[in-house]
Amino acid sequence: MAENEHDLVVIGGGPGGYVAAIRAAQLGMNVGCVEEDPALGGTCLRVGCIPSKALLESSQRFLETRENASAHGILVGEVKLDLPTMLRRKNQVVTTLTKGVEALFKKNRITRYLGHGRLDGAGKVVVSSGAGEAVLKGKHILIATGSRPAVLHGVPLDGDRIGTSTEALSYPEVPQHLVVIGGGYIGLELGSVWRRLGARVTVLEYLDRILFGLDTEIAAEAKKVFEKQGLEFRLGCKVTGARASGKGCVVESEGYDALTCDRVLLAVGRVPNTTKLGLESVGIELHKKGSIPVNEHFATSAERIYAIGDVIAGPMLAHKAEEEGVACVEGIAKGQGHVNYDAIAAVVYTHPEIAAVGRTEEQLKEAGIDYRKGVFPFRANGRARTLGQADGWIKMLADAKTDRVLGVHIIGPHAGGLINEAAAAMSFGASSEDLARTCHVHPTLGEALRESALAVSGRAIHI
Ligand code: NAI
Repeated sequence: MAENEHDLVVIGGGPGGYVAAIRAAQLGMNVGCVEEDPALGGTCLRVGCIPSKALLESSQRFLETRENASAHGILVGEVKLDLPTMLRRKNQVVTTLTKGVEALFKKNRITRYLGHGRLDGAGKVVVSSGAGEAVLKGKHILIATGSRPAVLHGVPLDGDRIGTSTEALSYPEVPQHLVVIGGGYIGLELGSVWRRLGARVTVLEYLDRILFGLDTEIAAEAKKVFEKQGLEFRLGCKVTGARASGKGCVVESEGYDALTCDRVLLAVGRVPNTTKLGLESVGIELHKKGSIPVNEHFATSAERIYAIGDVIAGPMLAHKAEEEGVACVEGIAKGQGHVNYDAIAAVVYTHPEIAAVGRTEEQLKEAGIDYRKGVFPFRANGRARTLGQADGWIKMLADAKTDRVLGVHIIGPHAGGLINEAAAAMSFGASSEDLARTCHVHPTLGEALRESALAVSGRAIHI
């Protein structure tokens, strides 16, 4: 195969693109991957999931050392924040992981192209960089260009005082007052980080609830817990404008007084990255919401051009993109590939964590599906007590007729780890009885999941 010619050219080196590239290489394809950032890993590794989780971990340790150590009989002196070290550690975690992806590319003999990729008619991708332009030929082309923060009319981003999650991962000092626009995943995770480090944090949310899309009861409980932690909320608050003035900012919204603060974090969702992609050169038209339409094999309307991840419809989650990337290239190589969208979980990495898989009660009611519900609180779980994290509960929803598990919703310690067991069970089509009859190690948080399964049929032991 000539240089610059590949079985598969992937545009985008994020979790969707790089995982698809590796899987395709495993399947024997000659793969090229175009990424415009010098580091591989995409938003998730560079300015998303990974750095935010590093800061969530550090800020929680800071808070616990300051406020809870004495309850464990650990006496410490004055606890002080060294923010530059905290930020450096976060950057090191990111570097280690992005370099890890680079090493995986080498191991799998994937050719990496540095530059902006765009389609240029059937089977062609042009890579432009400071060094000029190169033309790649691909038997198959996979678009995995991800997403970028949505902007809001009247809130001009200045890359400093008024910014997105990218800036909020690197504020050089703890803001005195941070105003977060949007009570979703990003707003609550990064709002929590800066609150723990000492900022006053006000979350402005357009809807009358936070965490839209998650179980309503759990979202209401989460709001109470976050309020106890000192986060302030203004719900039903439509932000109409924000401006920076000197060292401060003013945020205006309908129905509330204007707020002054020193930083604004805009977190009102993300939009697919489709600009300058040359889609018109192959006749791909976008969906109304800006995503690329695909069929069940991730094929676009253009022959042998596919798309996965944030750039197509569905939840914008790294693991959903990975799953789609693998299914897509397995489909190309072997004629079959499948994603079980019912078993894709989501996690909010606040404290406590919030996690969900499958359908909510609201969705089941709307679909007219009869269900039974088992709820088990962490306060009745031994391991949660030893951790000193007994807030929250697990809610399991199972089909009233077949007992098949339809949804699991958790607020509590390590919810993000626990949800994987629920997702695995749902992937195998488990019933609540299956989980109720699975022996779980004692003492673990997993026992609470089993108890919620027992509670579906009214036989939880410890409550
Ligand atoms: P989001 O969609 O989770 O939340 C955005 C919120 O902003 C919504 O509640 C919306 O009602 C509100 N909003 C919109 N316009 C507004 C206005 N004018 N005034 C006030 N509020 C307004 O979006 P977010 O938090 O930006 O996250 C983006 C994506 O990134 C999500 O799709 C999420 O799945 C993903 N993500 C996932 C994480 C995880 O898996 N832990 C962490 C961070 C992000």
